Amino acid sequence: MDARIVCISGGTSGIGAGLVAAFLDAGDRVYTFGRSPEKIAAVHARWPEAVAAGRLVALAGDVTDAGFLQQLTERLEQDGGRLDVLVNNAGVIRSSGTLEESLEHWRETLEINLVAPFALTQLCAPLMDPSAAPVVINLSSACAQHPFATCTSTSYSVAKAGLDMLTRRLALALGPRGIRVNGVAPGVVASEMWSGADDLMQATVERRHVLGRQVVTPADVAESVLFLASPRARLVTGATLNVDAGYTLG
Ligand SMILES: NC(=O)c1ccc[n+]([C@@H]2O[C@H](COP(=O)([O-])OP(=O)(O)OC[C@H]3O[C@@H](n4cnc5c(N)ncnc54)[C@H](OP(=O)(O)O)[C@@H]3O)[C@@H](O)[C@H]2O)c1
Repeated sequence: MDARIVCISGGTSGIGAGLVAAFLDAGDRVYTFGRSPEKIAAVHARWPEAVAAGRLVALAGDVTDAGFLQQLTERLEQDGGRLDVLVNNAGVIRSSGTLEESLEHWRETLEINLVAPFALTQLCAPLMDPSAAPVVINLSSACAQHPFATCTSTSYSVAKAGLDMLTRRLALALGPRGIRVNGVAPGVVASEMWSGADDLMQATVERRHVLGRQVVTPADVAESVLFLASPRARLVTGATLNVDAGYTLG
């Protein structure tokens, strides 16, 4: 298979960094971005050869900044004008009581987790060539599927539930253009998203991860993303695949 051109939002830590590693290992060319310049520098330090060879481009940018998304797509156009895989991975959660959460946090959570994946897909879809079997993959969450008490942010659960419907609506809209759109919904993955909440994370895993009472790793998530991006999933579209060790079973 020829090297694919892959764009991953938020590939500077956690699951996103696992996805960068997996696509680089698969021989693909990866574009990624995040807000923190320090984390971008760490990405450059982790994969210096891929950066030097032009196989990895890591940029500082905010997924809610329309100007940055425009620059990103212009960069893709200048570099060949092609995109095969878009992974909408950047996301945030701010734990809070349902009625205590500020409107500012609500809007920020929806902007990053739901509006931005739509905005980026809207800009990237024209770069996707149907003959190359292009794919969009959205990072959802077990929290989208049920109001589990262990999911500690209502705005996050609502944003991810909206993202699951966005996955299906985009699959419907982009299917005729040969673009598949799918989601992956992880359970608990130890990442910066849980920083400062180690006890809660462990308790959630023990209560909900019926399979082995262990955390999901970025590599576990990457396996499913690679499958959905591959020809083996050529007729899979509009699906969200749970990678949650049984979190959503009840
Ligand atoms: N960890 C879990 O248990 C879990 C479970 C289910 C689903 N997920 C989902 O998986 C995805 C990745 O989460 P993670 O656990 O890997 O979290 P993480 O370690 O906190 O990584 C989030 C990534 O997104 C970037 N990001 C956040 N806001 C951004 C913005 N406005 N613009 C650009 N980049 C932004 C971060 O970089 P900067 O902060 O530098 O911008 C970082 O690279 C998210 O969509 C999350 O909702 C996570």
